[in-house]
Amino acid sequence: MGNIETHLNIGSIYKGAMKGLNDSVALVTGGGSGIGRATAKRFAREGANVVVADIAVEGAKETVSQIETNGGTARAIEADVTDAAQVEALVSETVDAYGALDIAHNNAGIEGNNAPTAEQSEDDWDRVLDINLKGVWLGLKHEIPAMIESGGGAIVNTSSIAGRAAAGPAPYTASKHGVIGLTRAAATEYAREDVRINAVCPGVIETGMVQRSEEDSSEQIDQFVQMQPLGRMGTPKEIANAVVWLASEEASFVTGNAFPVEGGYLAR
Ligand SMILES: NC(=O)c1ccc[n+]([C@@H]2O[C@H](COP(=O)([O-])OP(=O)(O)OC[C@H]3O[C@@H](n4cnc5c(N)ncnc54)[C@H](O)[C@@H]3O)[C@@H](O)[C@H]2O)c1
Repeated sequence: MGNIETHLNIGSIYKGAMKGLNDSVALVTGGGSGIGRATAKRFAREGANVVVADIAVEGAKETVSQIETNGGTARAIEADVTDAAQVEALVSETVDAYGALDIAHNNAGIEGNNAPTAEQSEDDWDRVLDINLKGVWLGLKHEIPAMIESGGGAIVNTSSIAGRAAAGPAPYTASKHGVIGLTRAAATEYAREDVRINAVCPGVIETGMVQRSEEDSSEQIDQFVQMQPLGRMGTPKEIANAVVWLASEEASFVTGNAFPVEGGYLAR
């Protein structure tokens, strides 16, 4: 009966549709474009207060402006996920701004060089692993204590089909396998403190990352798309749907998983 009031309030008919997100505080890294932007916008539509973090702050500001245009609440913070001090400051600024941290989507990532293993440089290896793997760990390191302090929470890390199979250059594939290992380890450690931690494994999704790879080798991208039985690229929104569900209370018994959203790629 208590819900009748909520349903009569037009403004909240949509907000809070996904259990546990209305009035929550969500942090999204790499929120300035692609999958991160779609997720940030979707969290905001569900009624979350969203911090949009990106090394490319103009993109983060654009995401915030799109959220605000739709009546949501968000702020942009410039942060490089490889920089420990910046990640620590990002989490504490989030808590200072909105009073808690309930949800985090550790999503910032790069594709790296499309070269065979023996032709990768040490610098390229370090850069991909730093952003895609260490960046996620630094996020967890500071988000988990803030969530425990907030009474629990949910984290979603962006892995890839390349975290479950050979699907891309070696440093990228290694980093995304690493994200799944990290997710599993942290999920088992913090489950009893009410912090659920999962990974999402997108297939080929229409974003800037794929456009850049297409410039490099459109044939290879075509090949990956053809390996997705649904026969097309996914959209950032289709990944956001899964991330938001994993972060919501509707996924309250789901932790330590690497959840594929890949048009059937891994079923083959
Ligand atoms: N697009 C795909 O097909 C696909 C498939 C599987 C996984 N992913 C993963 O999804 C995530 C998002 O990628 P996308 O496809 O939206 O690409 P994208 O390039 O549109 O977005 C990546 C964002 O991360 C930001 N970023 C890069 N380095 C950063 C750093 N050091 N600190 C903070 N932000 C940084 C970029 O500025 C950009 O806004 C990545 O982790 C990527 O590996 C993408």
